[in-house]
Amino acid sequence: MGAEIIDGKAFAARVRADVAGHVARLKSDHGLTPGLAVVLVGTDPASEVYVRNKGIQTREAGMNSYEHKLPAETAQADLLALIARLNADPAVHGILVQLPLPRHMDSDAIINAIDPAKDVDGFHILNVGLLGTGQRAMVPCTPLGCLMMLRDRLGDLSGLNAVVVGRSNIVGKPMAQLLLRESCTVTIAHSRTRDLADICRRADILVAAVGRPRMIPGDWIKPGARVIDVGINRIAEDGRNRLVGDVDFASAVEVAGAITPVPGGVGPMTIACLLANTLTACCRAAG
Ligand code: GUN
Repeated sequence: MGAEIIDGKAFAARVRADVAGHVARLKSDHGLTPGLAVVLVGTDPASEVYVRNKGIQTREAGMNSYEHKLPAETAQADLLALIARLNADPAVHGILVQLPLPRHMDSDAIINAIDPAKDVDGFHILNVGLLGTGQRAMVPCTPLGCLMMLRDRLGDLSGLNAVVVGRSNIVGKPMAQLLLRESCTVTIAHSRTRDLADICRRADILVAAVGRPRMIPGDWIKPGARVIDVGINRIAEDGRNRLVGDVDFASAVEVAGAITPVPGGVGPMTIACLLANTLTACCRAAG
């Protein structure tokens, strides 16, 4: 029996439509338009695509989009000065500095210079701490999107065994915190974990975020498990470039109860959640 395929594209479209509806009401009832500033340093082609898509979807949701493109050799002090201006600008409710930054910059210092109330990525150390202690935080977009899809399928997640494979600050760690907040029993595994296959086989919820193409085969998956594949790996196969996840979709789909495809699964949810976070930041700023 095949797994249900979780359509992240359709889900993200619903989230964006919901956000757009709220934005329209904010405008008509309160004269407020949420604004998102995106800062890109350098010309990394993948980052340029992400930033362009963010701008398009921000405007489609009825929000203001402010794009700041800086040369790769920009001094850290100049980027910090821009962030200070955006922090002080009342038309800007969300600030996102696209990562990775050029090597001469201290990413932690840059992220922690963003006003935590405008930190729509949820990467600021204050938001990390708030999430970790169960307080109201800005939640990182990709894990938030994963959680929304899981809750949509499963409703109450309480007591389920969740295994997160990957320990990054952007996905693995905040994902584990969110699942813990849902009362899951959470295991964080990673590239050095021993007996990874056995640990994965115990998962009712398996979130793969390691960045290794097709690392998790179907026989590591518990029958009926919900599988969320965060991996986006570009590989060359049969003479063409393909995007594949961290899970071997062809074998996993035979075993899992539900699974996100790559592409078209988690990916579209990230920007949808960024828009939702910007709306949230705007509403909180307005009190
Ligand atoms: N680069 C890749 N993913 C992300 C993200 O979610 N936020 C930021 N700021 N940069 C990224």
